[in-house]
Amino acid sequence: MVKTAILVSGGGTNLQAIIDSHIFGEIKNCELIAVISSNPQAYALERAKYAGIPTYIVDRSVFPNRISFTKALVDKLNDIGAQLVVYAGFNFILAPQMVKAFENKIINIHPSLIPSFCGEGFYGLRVHEAVLAHGVKVTGATAHFASDITDDGPIILQKAVDIFEDDTPHTLQRRVMEDAEWKILPEAISLFCEGRLEITGRVVRIKEKPNET
Ligand code: GAR
Repeated sequence: MVKTAILVSGGGTNLQAIIDSHIFGEIKNCELIAVISSNPQAYALERAKYAGIPTYIVDRSVFPNRISFTKALVDKLNDIGAQLVVYAGFNFILAPQMVKAFENKIINIHPSLIPSFCGEGFYGLRVHEAVLAHGVKVTGATAHFASDITDDGPIILQKAVDIFEDDTPHTLQRRVMEDAEWKILPEAISLFCEGRLEITGRVVRIKEKPNET
């Protein structure tokens, strides 16, 4: 079982999708060992408690800078023995020490089709505002490994979502979550935990399921 820690900052609908998929047996070989929140008020913490997952708070506001915040997170993840880290609506860019400590072991979900509408400043509703302002006709979500460059690591899964003429940032955000994020993030976690992801440079190959007979 791969010991998996989920990092959150807000409402935690992606966390809920992970919890539900895990309960239904759709995420294989994975133990959810912790939910760590950068925000003590995050509703995601309630979801974790209800599911019986241990919760921890590493409050961004009490750290003077990115490096000390990153160190506290790395220390906590090492203390609890995390083998996979998932950014599920985690709103902070961390110092390079995080990727160094968990290289190719951090999965991020981003609410657009990378490499469009991503990078510093593109998070949450802002992504969907930018998508609508640009007038693109298709958007989506990307599950990828975190690297030193924000939203730039090797792509595991992507799913496209159509944009409608009457979409607002809120309606679009909801559709991208429902139709893409809540599906591909649990699937990417399962693929990792099953040992089916092979990374070459920036390309991820999904290995066939081993024959179960
Ligand atoms: C999600 O749409 C997630 O993809 C996005 O924030 C939202 C959090 O929702 N993350 C980013 O934009 C990170 N770049 P949630 O807390 O309900 O899962």
